[in-house]
Amino acid sequence: MDIGARIYVAGHRGLAGSAIWRRLQAERAQRLIGRTRSELDLRDPAAVEEFFASERPEYVFLAAARVGGILVNSTRPADFLADNLAIQQNVMLAAWRHRVKKLLFLGSSCIYPRLARQPIREDCLLTGPLEPTNEAYAIAKIAGIHMLRALRQQHGFHGISVMPTNLYGPNDNYNPATSHVLPAMIRRFHEAVEHGYPTVTLWGTGTPFREFLHSDDLADAAVFLMRGYDSAEPVNVGTGEDLPIRQLAGLVAAAAGFHGSILWDLSKPDGTPRKRLDVSRMAAMGWRARVPLEQGIRRAYRDYSSTARIPKFDRPISVSVDPSRNVPPSNEMYERSL
Ligand SMILES: NC(=O)c1ccc[n+]([C@@H]2O[C@H](COP(=O)([O-])OP(=O)(O)OC[C@H]3O[C@@H](n4cnc5c(N)ncnc54)[C@H](OP(=O)(O)O)[C@@H]3O)[C@@H](O)[C@H]2O)c1
Repeated sequence: MDIGARIYVAGHRGLAGSAIWRRLQAERAQRLIGRTRSELDLRDPAAVEEFFASERPEYVFLAAARVGGILVNSTRPADFLADNLAIQQNVMLAAWRHRVKKLLFLGSSCIYPRLARQPIREDCLLTGPLEPTNEAYAIAKIAGIHMLRALRQQHGFHGISVMPTNLYGPNDNYNPATSHVLPAMIRRFHEAVEHGYPTVTLWGTGTPFREFLHSDDLADAAVFLMRGYDSAEPVNVGTGEDLPIRQLAGLVAAAAGFHGSILWDLSKPDGTPRKRLDVSRMAAMGWRARVPLEQGIRRAYRDYSSTARIPKFDRPISVSVDPSRNVPPSNEMYERSL
């Protein structure tokens, strides 16, 4: 990828897209193209066609998607399936028709079977049932991988698929109704400190293991793959290391300066016990993640706390430990120390 080329980052204000945008700006890319959802609704095929015809991007990072937690994913599966299929199809077909040199599609680790062997290798795709709560989203992402495979096979189009683990970083979603586990914890611990709450309640036992990748590392991997990878086979991007949610909570509490008690609501589900990506394909290409989790959490916390407007809650609200997850409130608290 020539850094002077016209590069379109779809979803350039989101968590992943904004990191890719920052990374390309740091490399002095001069012809970056971005559009907000209100400027260009990627579900609209005519608008997407017109945009590609007028802007003529040469490289496309597809980081736009309808993304959300378990509640919205499981209660609005039709929206998740329809919107993501439409966004992908419109952007991929327009990119092919307008002779884009290469397109990078962001998928997600939720495309893999619910009980996949750990660490999860790319070749276990479609070898078992999916997690039911985000099945619609996963099916859309799998369709995206296959659309790129088909465009490559039939037309020689250069599309690549990248499957990141759980991401965190600047511009993350901190909305308690839809956020993922790490930003949800950041917000909860911050609010507890601001309001002097003595406790923070988290869902489940705290024993499931999860993997987290800073969005700056994802952006680095995306640019690396855009430059050097050209195959229909999806590539996992992660750190290859995971930790128990209980330990994660300790790191976030420390970053926020929270000295109260962490309670575990054992009536709430834990989700999959472990979900760690096999990152040996990336390692074999010479890439590895660089941002240590503790440092990344401190950075993310500083980013959030410098911009957060804190609403007042009557009592602490619990957060789900399932990274695919939303954060409904809970009154039932079960004490269990860290
Ligand atoms: N977050 C994670 O932990 C994670 C993990 C693995 C993979 N991923 C993947 O990374 C990609 C991006 O996720 P993210 O976390 O960065 O999401 P995000 O922060 O919610 O950002 C989504 C972006 O998509 C844009 N968008 C959504 N619908 C659109 C539409 N109809 N038309 C135009 N733009 C639209 C949004 O535009 P506006 O800013 O204008 O609203 C926003 O910039 C997704 O494919 C996701 O599967 C994310």
